[in-house]
Formats: sequence, structure tokens, C-alpha cells
Amino acid sequence: MMEKIAKLIEQAQSDIAASNTLAQINAVKVKYLGKSGELTQLLRGMKDLAPEDRPAAGKFVNQARDEITELTDKKSKELAQAETDEKMLKESIDITLDGNAVERGSLHPCTLVANEIVEIFTSMGFSIAQGPEIELDKFCFQMLNIPPDHPARDMQDTFYITDEALLRTHTSSVQARAMLKSKPPIRIVCPGKVYRPDDDATHSPMFQQIEGLVVDEKVTLCDLKGLLETFAQKLFDQKTKVRFRPSFFPFTEPSVEVDVTCSVCHGKGCRICKGTGWIEILGAGIVNPKVLENCGIDSKKYKGLAFGLGIERTTMIKYGIPDMRILFENDVRFLKEFK
Ligand code: PHE
Repeated sequence: MMEKIAKLIEQAQSDIAASNTLAQINAVKVKYLGKSGELTQLLRGMKDLAPEDRPAAGKFVNQARDEITELTDKKSKELAQAETDEKMLKESIDITLDGNAVERGSLHPCTLVANEIVEIFTSMGFSIAQGPEIELDKFCFQMLNIPPDHPARDMQDTFYITDEALLRTHTSSVQARAMLKSKPPIRIVCPGKVYRPDDDATHSPMFQQIEGLVVDEKVTLCDLKGLLETFAQKLFDQKTKVRFRPSFFPFTEPSVEVDVTCSVCHGKGCRICKGTGWIEILGAGIVNPKVLENCGIDSKKYKGLAFGLGIERTTMIKYGIPDMRILFENDVRFLKEFK
């Protein structure tokens, strides 16, 4: 019996030493200590021993079980640690590797230019006024001295929704609303989308405008010119010059078209300015007294100046973009140029 146990221990020790994985050591545990393991078998054989030999043999078997348990537990721990170490090594993360960059979007060139224009005017004391894109004929035309059936309506082809409601053709409608709502002095810029049924390389059925309005006691054409010159020099460059050409708008009198010196050739004449040295960017004028009166402002006491420009057109001029349609195609290669 004793011999058997001694042999068993020896055998177990070599089995334990030969185990290289957790699965193997678990199998060894079962082989010796399990319910039908070898040690259990030996314990069962105790009944065949002489009663006086049993206590000593029992003690020996128990010692053997403790020893094998201790050895297998120790080996289990070692193997578990080794497996974890290996796993850690395999799965280690190289924190010095580059990550997957998330591309950041950027503002559309028209948004950049609109923001810049608004900023130039707010820095000169203007505030921002906004109004609805679906507008009443009253604010878009009638208040602005364009009665129904007036030929001046042909100047701005219009999307009508009903006889009275339309898509605004200019943000001058916001100016009419502002004059009705507040008393002079008024100094506002009105940025926003406007709509006209045109569609070619230089016209889009939807485009953006910024219009400006000043109403105060002493407002002259000189103020208008100084204001627009300062604006153009801030938007393009310090050397930019401004010239007025006589024009006609029903809501201003006198009315002017405003040109700036070409920012590409600085007035010498090039392809962009079609050899003239000048580029038209604005419509402007002194607010027609009829408009002031329509909007409840005393035209004897107050004068107004107004101007309006297209954002897309200004963006094309500022960045030398030949075709307006590129601005609406959302080609990422084009948009990335403005990051
Ligand atoms: N509202 C005009 C347009 O859209 C521009 C303009 C504004 C002209 C103010 C004169 C004064 O064409």
C-alpha cells in the first residue's frame, strides 16, 4: 500500500512537470484527485487492509492528496500566469501608431464670404435683420414703390405662390419690414436666400444676398460712396477703388450700379474684368422718399441709403471662380480649397 502511494506520488509529480497547458494540468487533477481518480481508488482499497494498519495508511493517503493538490494548484497558477502574459504580449496596443483621422468639414466659400461681409458691416455699427423667404407681394414690391403691373416687375422675374405670396426676389423686403417696425436711426444688413427663375453660368434660381439700409437725418450719396469704398477695401484690398454709374431702381432715387477695380489686375484690364479694369458688384442708391413714406417714415426729416449685393457673385469675384454652378455642385475637391 505504502509503496503504491509512493509510486503514485512520483508518477503524479512527473505528470505535473510534463503539463504545459491549463487543460493538461486540469486533466492531471482529475486523473489523481477526481471522483474516480487513482487516489480515490486507493482510499477505497483501505477496507482490505488489516484494521491496525488503516490509521497509518489513511494518514499517508491524506498527505499524498495534500501534496498532489498543492503541486497541481501551484502549476495551475504558473500556467495561468504564463497564458495571461502571452496573451498580453500578443494583444499589446502600439499607442505610437497613427489613428484613423476623422476628416473635418469646412465652411462653404459663400458662407465664408457672407460671414466676412456681415462682419465688416457689424464692425461699422450695423445690426443684422432677417425676414421670411416666402414673402408677401406687399413687402417684396408694393412698399418698395413697385405697384402691381408696374413694368419694373420685369427687372426681377418672380416665383409666385399665390397672387399675394411669392418667393422673395431680394432681401429689400426685410428692409421694408424693418422700417415699418422701428424708428430711425436705422442701420441694418439683411443677409438671406432669394429666388428668381434664372439658370445659367452666372445665375442660379436660388442665390444669396446681403442688402444694407441706413436711415437717418443726414444721409447723402457721399456717405453711400464712402461706406461702400470702405467696405470694398476691407473685403478685397486696401487699393480697391469704387465708381458709381447711373442706374435705375424703383426704390432708390438716384440709383447707381457700383463697380470696384478688378482685384486680379488692379484696374489694368484682364480676362476676369473683360479688359475694363472694373467689375460690377452692387446696386445702390438713395432711398426713394416714396418708400420712406410707404413705410411710415417722414421723408422730409429723414433720408436713407440702400445697397444690395449677391453673395455668389461676390464669392466668384473674390476667388476668381468662372462658373457659378461650381458653387452648388458640392464637389469636395473644390470645397477643400477653402479649408
Ligand atoms: N434689391 C436690388 C436687387 O436685388 C438691389 C438694390 C438694393 C439696389 C438696394 C438698390 C438699393 O437687385
